[in-house]
Formats: sequence, C-alpha cells, structure tokens
Amino acid sequence: MEHSAELVRRSERVFTPALHLYYPVAVASGRGTCVLSADGKHYLDFSSGLAVLNIGHNHPRVVAAARKQMESLIHTGGIYYNETTVAAAEKLVSITPAGLDMLFFSNSGAEAVEGAIKLARFVTERQGIISFTRAFHGRTLGALSVTTSSAAYRRRYHPLLPSVYQVPYPYCFRCPYRQSSDRCDLCCLHELEETLKHRIPAEETAAVLIEPFLGEGGYFPAPATFLKALRKLCDRHGILLIFDEVQSGMGRTGRWFAADHAGVVPDVMAVAKGIASGFPLSAVVARRSVMEKWPSGAHGTTFGGNPVSCAASLATVDAITEEGLLATALGRGTALLERLNQTIGCHPLVGQVRGFGYMVGIEFVTCDGFPNGSACEEVLAHCLKRGVILIGCGPERHVIRFIPPLNVSEEELESVLAILEEGVSALS
Ligand SMILES: Cc1ncc(COP(=O)(O)O)c(C=O)c1O
Repeated sequence: MEHSAELVRRSERVFTPALHLYYPVAVASGRGTCVLSADGKHYLDFSSGLAVLNIGHNHPRVVAAARKQMESLIHTGGIYYNETTVAAAEKLVSITPAGLDMLFFSNSGAEAVEGAIKLARFVTERQGIISFTRAFHGRTLGALSVTTSSAAYRRRYHPLLPSVYQVPYPYCFRCPYRQSSDRCDLCCLHELEETLKHRIPAEETAAVLIEPFLGEGGYFPAPATFLKALRKLCDRHGILLIFDEVQSGMGRTGRWFAADHAGVVPDVMAVAKGIASGFPLSAVVARRSVMEKWPSGAHGTTFGGNPVSCAASLATVDAITEEGLLATALGRGTALLERLNQTIGCHPLVGQVRGFGYMVGIEFVTCDGFPNGSACEEVLAHCLKRGVILIGCGPERHVIRFIPPLNVSEEELESVLAILEEGVSALS
C-alpha cells in the first residue's frame, strides 16, 4: 500500500470524521512552493497551506529564526516578558495601517476574531455585532455566530451568540440587488442602515465586522467605494469597524493588507494565517484609543505570543520586505489576471477571474450562470493529477483560490498556469 493511503487509513481510525482534509496526500517535506509526498511524488503547492505560507514552505530565514529561538526560550505562558514577543508586536504594528498601533497576540484566526468581538463589546458597552452573509470568520462559537459562508458550518450548533445580525456582502458578481458595477446604488449599505433602523439601534451596535476581501465565501474583494462608505457609516454612529484580514493579510494581495487597496483604516483588525509562516500566531490589532479601554485581565491567553512563533513572524515580515515580495506580487498579480482573463476568461463555464496580487479567485458557472461546483472540482482534480495543489471555496465550492506563495518562481507560475488552462479547456 502507498504511504499516503496507509496514513489516510491510520488517520481515519484516530481522528474524528469531523476533521476534513482536502486531499488524500501525505506530505513528507516542503520547501518553497514544492512539497514532496510520502509516496515520492512532487507537487507545487498553490494553496500555500491554506493561505498561510506566503513565503513558501520552510523558508530558510523562518527555519533559522525559529531554531535559534528554540535554543534559548520556547514558552512564556503569559507570566513574564520576552524580547522576541515584544519585537514581533512592534514589527506587526509597523506594517498594519497607520493608527493601528496596539495589539493582543493569540493563536488562531478564530481566536483573533473572538478577541476582536470581545474588545468591541467591552469598550463600546454595546452588544450588537453586524457581519456579512457569505463571510467566514472561524469555527469557535463566537466566530461561528458571525460566519455564514455555509449553513453546513452552523448546522446543529444553534443557538449561537445573540445580538448578531447579517447583511448582504457586496459580492457584485452576484449582486443581490441585480445591479452592475457601473450602476451601483450601494444597496448593501442601505440594507445595513435598514438593519440599524429596524433590527438593532446604532447606539446598541458595537461593531461591523467584514472581510475586506471575502475568502472562504468566494474570493471576492469588496469594492473600495463600499468600504469607504462603511467607514463613514461607522463613524457617524460610533460603531467600531473590524476588518478580518486573517486570509487577505500579510502581503497576500500585493500590499500588506487588503485595507491598503481601499485606503480605509478600520478600528480593529484580526490577523493570522500568514503572520508566522505556519507557526501558530494571530493578533487583534487596534487603535491605541480603543485598546487602552481594555483593562488588564479583560482578556488573556496561555500560548498567545509564543516566542518561537514570534521569531518566525519577525523573519516572515523581514523576508517579505527585503525580498521585495509585495511589489513582485502586485505586479505579477496584475499580469496574472490579464493572462487568465485572456486564456480562460472567455470560456463559457468561467464566470469571472478577479483579485489583487496573488489572491485570485476563478468562479465557475453553469451555462445559465449558476455556481458550477462540478466544473471547479473537475479542474482541481486535473491539477492534482498533474502535481498541482489548488483548492476551492464558495458555498458551492465553485471558485478556485489561486494563491501561490509570493516568492513563487516565474517558471513554477508558468507551468501551473499551463496545467490550469489545460484543465479548463478540457471542460465540456
Ligand atoms: C477570513 C478568516 N477569518 C478567520 C478564519 C479562521 O482562522 P483559523 O482557522 O486559524 O481559526 C479564517 C480561516 O480560514 C479566515 O479565512
């Protein structure tokens, strides 16, 4: 039996079936964009380990920094201070949008979202949270209460957090109001205003939480006009604006954060995934004026700010900066969109290719324009067979997330594009 098949068999005996992995491939080692399976097969990982490995697998700087840190101190446990943890926090606030200059470290994306919600409720002394239909913010009960990318994630977990309301995400490709980008009356925003009029008053609303670039829900960037208007609405009512940049942050879009594309600064930001190149770390980052109202002991953690994760985070930010990876991803990302639009954009089953930098979504449609999960699955299967790991998203799993590491080589990119284009053209 192949090693991968044997490992899948052992996993199925020991892990709950609730744990879902994308592919039955056991990976033995990884470097950059390449991973080697336990069966000796080479793959190009264009999922970046689920949008985490923005500088690829086992970047030498990350490995060296983590190794060095492990030799001196592994754990602080919220008991004492450590230079590496403080330096990582200083580094992170130096790249987040201006004004977001204090943070709380935790371990996962969901934990950062939980922290952001707690912070907003605590400092505003209001209960209401407004999030967006299609959003994904994590699996813990608080984060799940604001997650609506798929009802499957919420099945049998009700009742969830009270005083949480959803309004439509500005997913313009499938505009719920049937408008077009050149004729948009920002109806999604009006819906939010209606919610404040009819469902929860503004003075009881703590925060509006949004992914500025929708991830799991379908890879769609919210229009800058919408985010700007949202900022104004929150200011008008004293509501905190929280951006979940867990997936879209840390250079993925060719800027440090998707917020930078829109030129909108939120009050609070959740950051995770790419922050430490695979080591568990996340952060709630916020304006000083907000954070200073969160007193000692109002939130806490045992593992958050782990020195080894923080060493990896410092190395990650330095690598992205010194290797000029933001500019590379931004420039090559634009060329990538042009290329994909030319090669597969006109295919009748491709509805839209969109994104910024190396955060690109390819949406598959049926001939009638409905989400086409089976076409997407067929292309993903073709790619996997040809040694390319790509993953889907969207409620019907009908969108490919094209998310290589920012330091992917031109040759790797070219070879994957050829395989992807071949997969699309083979669709009947
Ligand atoms: C935007 C966003 N928020 C939160 C999360 C939850 O992160 P984690 O799985 O680390 O808890 C994810 C995970 O995919 C995400 O994409």
